Order: sequence, then structure tokens, then C-alpha cells
Amino acid sequence: MKSFDILSSEDKGMTKQNGNAKLKRCRSVYCLIFVPAALALLLCGATMSKFLSFKSILGTESLYSRQNPEGTNWNQVEVMITVETVIRRIQEELDRLKEAEQDPSTSSPSVFKQAAFLADILGVLQLVGAPHQQSGGFTIHPLLKEKKRSDEPADYFLREEIRKYVRIKPNRLGKQNFMGANATFTSIGHACFAMKEDLEEYMDYDIGEICNDDWKLAQKLMVHGCDPLPRRRCFSRAPKLYSQPFPITESMWKLPDDRNVRWSQYRCKNFSCLASITARKGFFKCANCFNLTNHEMPRWVKLEGDPNQTADFLISDVLGIKPGEIRIGLDFSVGTGTFAARMRESNVTIVSASINLGAPFSEMVALRGLVPLYLTINQRLPFFDNTLDLIHTTRFLDGWIDLVLLDFVLYDWDRVLRPGGLLWIDSFFCLKEDLFDYLEAFKMLRYKRHKWVVVPKLDKDDQEMFFSAVLEKPPRPFR
Ligand SMILES: *[C@@H]1O[C@H](CO)[C@@H](O)[C@H](O)[C@H]1NC(C)=O
Ligand SMILES: *[C@@H]1O[C@H](CO)[C@@H](O)[C@H](O)[C@H]1NC(C)=O
Ligand SMILES: *[C@@H]1O[C@H](CO)[C@@H](O)[C@H](O)[C@H]1NC(C)=O
Ligand SMILES: *[C@@H]1O[C@H](CO)[C@@H](O)[C@H](O)[C@H]1NC(C)=O
Ligand SMILES: *[C@@H]1O[C@H](CO)[C@@H](O)[C@H](O)[C@H]1NC(C)=O
Repeated sequence: MKSFDILSSEDKGMTKQNGNAKLKRCRSVYCLIFVPAALALLLCGATMSKFLSFKSILGTESLYSRQNPEGTNWNQVEVMITVETVIRRIQEELDRLKEAEQDPSTSSPSVFKQAAFLADILGVLQLVGAPHQQSGGFTIHPLLKEKKRSDEPADYFLREEIRKYVRIKPNRLGKQNFMGANATFTSIGHACFAMKEDLEEYMDYDIGEICNDDWKLAQKLMVHGCDPLPRRRCFSRAPKLYSQPFPITESMWKLPDDRNVRWSQYRCKNFSCLASITARKGFFKCANCFNLTNHEMPRWVKLEGDPNQTADFLISDVLGIKPGEIRIGLDFSVGTGTFAARMRESNVTIVSASINLGAPFSEMVALRGLVPLYLTINQRLPFFDNTLDLIHTTRFLDGWIDLVLLDFVLYDWDRVLRPGGLLWIDSFFCLKEDLFDYLEAFKMLRYKRHKWVVVPKLDKDDQEMFFSAVLEKPPRPFR
């Protein structure tokens, strides 16, 4: 009966009131009639709830049911059969009552009332069953449909705070605002519907109080496509004691104060644990990224090993391609911001996109005095077309990524790169047999190649290859 709550409070009140009023009329002699009537009411409720829960199932499935429309239809048939059965039973009961009315020995005013009651219920049921009876098709009642169309997410979620968030907010005074819209349309990712329970847990809080320490649930929701997440009206948790971050002259190459991070949900509880070589920690692709002195210091400023067998490029070489032209960019990687730190030394401003996969990457980047961008791969980049001078990516897009997704990602990067901007693919790796397909995806961009290397990756029995490139977005004159 949970889904019965979907009925708005008015609907519920009405059903109850009607029911109570009718029940009061039941007096001893006519309790015989009350029994089938109550049964009908129950059935009616059950059917309605079934019908409505079907509606909510539809809400989820319709997102994914393109392959299997039969499945949902079958469900609907079942509901309609139930409705029809109830309608038939009540009809029979009404006929019996009408016969009783004609018999003067048993007739009394109460019989009329019972008949009226049953007729009421019949009306409600026929309303639900009507589209089926009239058209033979399995359509949802126009009233329900209307509601669905106008404000679908608000109907789908039970938690009032979610419904409030997604409801369209008309402007005060009914006028257009300065953005040319007459309302504000707060939105959530469509996968939020498939993760209803998690989202309802996330939105379970007291307005104005401190939120739960549930950043991990939030990240899980985002990674699985509930992105954007709704905003919340509670105060986010902060570390117990927050100490002033180090000044910018020191912060770049020093492990931050442990107290400035909420360590719940991480295996490590301090930065030295993340930086040590022994602890099992953080994120496997970036297991040493917190070791600033040994692991991070040489990256992009010093080449190690055979220069003909490395996929690494030096920042100085890449910036040398366009001296003085590269000023702003995005690092779409997993890391602690070292790329941005090094680019800062060359007067280039880089924002570092990263989520907290097993370690507080975002906080680390921020505590180093760099700009963290908390962003999943599910989302269109929050930059306008033709704005950035550089996009750098490493340890994020690899041989795991779906080729269609990679295509969408690359076109989005192309969108935000300005003509003449550089795309630096840094140590992309994949299985040897997949290399051709991935290289085709990158070639699709038809960028000018400044650097392009493919070398074997030596740590996995020669099964994998590294690919690095620096590519330049061509001008695209209007025609
Ligand atoms: C907003 O504008 C559209 C037409 O552009 C109109 O149909 C709608 O009713 C308006 N909404 C409000 C809340 O004024
Ligand atoms: C850091 O955490 C590890 C265990 O996670 C602990 O052994 C170590 O003492 C901690 N170090 C500091 C400086 O708090
Ligand atoms: C970083 O790694 C080196 C070995 O590669 C280790 O000697 C050093 O202690 C590590 N740094 C920290 C802060 O744990
Ligand atoms: C790298 O390759 C170039 C030409 O391909 C060659 O001249 C050079 O000797 C090589 N360097 C090393 C260290 O193998
Ligand atoms: C960065 O800018 C400062 C001052 O604007 C200048 O002194 C410095 O030489 C620049 N560094 C590089 C590597 O261009």
C-alpha cells in the first residue's frame, strides 16, 4: 500500500471522508450489505494502489524498456482485468439490491443508501477502467496523464523535499526574469529515477540542520547518472577543526594539514598514510599521487628512462609549441593537482577536474591552492564553446571506455577548446588489439598533430600500449 501515498492529500482525505460517512449509515440489519461493500472498497483501494504503483514502475521502466514494451503491457492487462472483475461484482450486487427494493416486504430507506454507496464506488472504478472499455487500448486515465505530463518528477518521488526541489518555480509577479524565463526549472539527472531509494535517503534531512556525512552516497548517485543531484537545504558537514591553509608560497608542495579533511569513508585517515608506499590506499590509478616529493615532483618537468620509449611529454615542450598563447585550461584526470601546480609556474591557469575516488582529491587540490572542479564524466563540461586554450587528460580515459562515450566526450572537448587550442592526451593506455579503434576515435577530430607517440606499456606482459599526443584544434571558418 506504500504507493497509495502517491495520491495527493486531498485525494486521500476525500476517499476517507466518503468511506466514513457511508460506514456510519451501516446499521445492524444492513451489515450484510456492508460486508460486500467493504470488500469492494478494499478491492478498489488495492486496485488503485496497484494501478498507481504500476504507474511508478512505468516511470522507472519507461526509461529503459525500449527493448521490452510487452512486459509493461502485460502488467497493465492484469490491472485492467482486476478492475473489470470488481466492476462486475459491484454491478451484480447493485442488481440484487434493486430487486430487493422492488420487494415491499424488505425495502427500507437504507437500501437506497447502500445502493447509492455502491453506485459511487462503481463510478470511481469505471473512471479508472473507462479508457480501456471505450477504446480497447491500454491508456492511462487522462486525469492521471495530465498530472504526469505537467510535473512528472514531483509525482514520482515520495519525499517531499525532492518534490519541492524539482517542481517548476514560477517567478514572483508572473513576469519573465532577466534570463528571459518566466520560471526556474531546477533539474536532476534522469538516472535519479532508477536510484529512487538512494536519492530519497540522500534527501532525508531536517531543513536548516547539519546534513548527514554522506558525501559518498552523493558521489555514488552522481557516478551512476543521478547528476545533477538536487540541492539540499541542510548545512554540509565540515572537518571538526579547520586550520588556516598554508600560504600559497608553501601550499603547492607540502602535504596539507590532516584536520582540514573529513576522513570518514576513506581507508586512510591522514595524508601521510596516503603518501606512504606501504599502506593499501586510495585509488589504484593514482596510488602515489599524494607522494609529492618522490612521485609528483618530476612529473612533466623531467623525463625518466629511454626518451624513445616514453609516452610522457614535458610541459616546456608542449607550451613551446605555442609560446605565450596558452593561458587557461582544464585538466581532466585523476590526481592531486600537480599538473595545475606545474602549469601555474608557467603562468597558465588550470582547473583540475576530479572526483574523490578513494581519497580526498578535491580537498587536496584546493589545499594546494589550486582550483578543483568536482565533475563526473557523465556531464557536459561547464564551459562555453571555444573558450579554453588547453585540455590535458591522463589516468582517466583509458582502455575501459566505451567508444561511443569517447566520441561524445571528444566532441564536447572540441566544443570548449578554442580554435588553435591544444588537446594533450597523456599516456592513454589500452589493450594492443583495441589500439586501432581508439586511435581512429582520436583521428576523427582531424586535429593538427604536433606530437603523436605509441609505445608498449612494459608492466603488463606487453599486452597493453601507451598512446600520447598533442593535437591542435583547427580553425573552422563559417561558410
Ligand atoms: C511561461 O510562458 C509560457 C509561454 O512562453 C506560458 O505557456 C506559460 O504559461 C508561462 N508560465 C507562467 C508560470 O507564467
Ligand atoms: C596516519 O594514519 C595511520 C593509519 O591510518 C597511523 O598509523 C598514523 O599514525 C597516522 N599518522 C599521523 C601523523 O597521524
Ligand atoms: C614517497 O615515496 C618514497 C619512495 O618512493 C618514500 O621513501 C617516501 O617516504 C614517500 N613519502 C612519504 C611522504 O611517504
Ligand atoms: C631515439 O630515436 C632517435 C631516432 O629515431 C635516435 O636517433 C636516437 O638515438 C634514439 N635515442 C635513444 C636513446 O635510443
Ligand atoms: C610569469 O609571470 C611573471 C610575472 O607576471 C613573470 O615574472 C614570469 O617570468 C612569468 N613566468 C613564466 C615562466 O613565463
